Amino acid sequence: MPDSILLIGNSDGIGAAVTKALVAQGDRVIGLSRSPSPLGPQGPHHVVQDIAAPEYEDVLHRLLLDKGPFDVCIFCAAIGSRLTLPDLSKEARVMEVNLTAMVRTLAALIPGWLERGQGHFLGLSSLADDFYNANAPSYTASKAGFSNYLISMALKVRSHGVHITNIRFGFVDTELPQASWKPLMMTSDEAARQVLTCLRTRPIQLSVPKLAAAALHTLRLWQSFRIWWS
Ligand SMILES: NC(=O)c1ccc[n+]([C@@H]2O[C@H](COP(=O)([O-])OP(=O)(O)OC[C@H]3O[C@@H](n4cnc5c(N)ncnc54)[C@H](OP(=O)(O)O)[C@@H]3O)[C@@H](O)[C@H]2O)c1
Repeated sequence: MPDSILLIGNSDGIGAAVTKALVAQGDRVIGLSRSPSPLGPQGPHHVVQDIAAPEYEDVLHRLLLDKGPFDVCIFCAAIGSRLTLPDLSKEARVMEVNLTAMVRTLAALIPGWLERGQGHFLGLSSLADDFYNANAPSYTASKAGFSNYLISMALKVRSHGVHITNIRFGFVDTELPQASWKPLMMTSDEAARQVLTCLRTRPIQLSVPKLAAAALHTLRLWQSFRIWWS
């Protein structure tokens, strides 16, 4: 039987690629983002909503009543922000979109999934969760919090039949990454294929590419050593 899947942040990038792949395999997709559906008016049901807005929780609960229950939720929404001193005005919004909205989404879904004894949440984090980045403190910190929260929650709920998967990608060819050098970059279709594999295998965490994950972890160890030594 096809799954009923809620996709948060699916108008563009990896979320749009995942939407297309899921629709192609016959799943029932409900999308949500500030822009319309990537598949246009003929595409799956789509809600236009800012996930950092105060009404987001009410919109989610109404969506659950009208279109739920959902078997799966894939959280792809995020924004990046390059920090240029002295302007810190965008920092809090990055945390609200990337981290707080994910926590609110889980809070709306988990109680129903615990009652049903099933459900799968996949969150798109980043390999950026593992090192300090002076050029993007809010993005890096939001992803560190995102990964830690999801894995901790995965351990809390897995004995109740509810699965949580934290997906950590390196560079993917979307509008989001602002770095001038993007080694080992994946296409958004390849990223979508990895997400669909996680739907089947339900790991607690996936890190891709492994080489980039190892390199960034080594960088983090070096940064920690220098901070400790300073
Ligand atoms: N691209 C990469 O190199 C890369 C690497 C590692 C991890 N990731 C992660 O992968 C995920 C997807 O990234 P992407 O590259 O596909 O980004 P993207 O192309 O910029 O797409 C981001 C999606 O999030 C939605 N979104 C942003 N702010 C929103 C808001 N306030 N309310 C509702 N929806 C919102 C956007 O839709 P609207 O603008 O229409 O709202 C869009 O559909 C993110 O979590 C990102 O951190 C990406």
